[in-house]
Amino acid sequence: MKRGALIVFEGLDGCGKSTQLSLAAEEMRTKGLEPVVTREPTDGPWGRKIRAMAASGEAVSPETELEWFFKDRREHVQNVVKPALEAGQTVLSDRSYISTVAYQGARGLDPKKILADSEAEFERPDLVLLFEVSPRDGLARVEARGGLSEPVFENLEFQEKVAAVFADLQVSGLVRIDAARGIEAIAQDVSDAILKVSD
Ligand code: TYD
Repeated sequence: MKRGALIVFEGLDGCGKSTQLSLAAEEMRTKGLEPVVTREPTDGPWGRKIRAMAASGEAVSPETELEWFFKDRREHVQNVVKPALEAGQTVLSDRSYISTVAYQGARGLDPKKILADSEAEFERPDLVLLFEVSPRDGLARVEARGGLSEPVFENLEFQEKVAAVFADLQVSGLVRIDAARGIEAIAQDVSDAILKVSD
């Protein structure tokens, strides 16, 4: 059995990655493929704890935050991502350890160490689609779709720090996408990039 491809969708809050993931999944289904669609943080116990913290507006220490994301991901990779890849399925994931590098890096932790630790422990993505928008535009989109519900992460000062880590990011399989354009132009780039890794 040929191993499946792991494709992750990354970027700032409001970058449009979730919309693009849905479109990509839909396109695969029309071709008769059955991608596994998933996300981090997950809906499991650690993911719920993270969302509750982010929504409460009361941040925990960067170290605690990092630990919660790792615990959530450990379960997710073990129970969902790894089995799917081993079964030959393509996995489309809304965020991955690349978000931990950027967001917890923006909290003041060392992005290089987070990346090295993550690569040592977790499945490496075959494709990292990084949707680039300005922090201001991203937050405007979050507001337009129903408000800033996670004040811990969704504020301009913090998003600017996250954007700086994303700007410096160097990982294999990275494809940067100008996400300030219309949905269809972006979807075309996504489709082209996916085609290249799924031969
Ligand atoms: P997000 O993808 O925005 O999920 P949702 O819109 O469903 O709440 O992720 C929630 C927040 O968590 C987002 O602001 C990014 C942040 N995050 C991290 O700080 N580190 C991580 O490792 C991940 C996966 C997400």
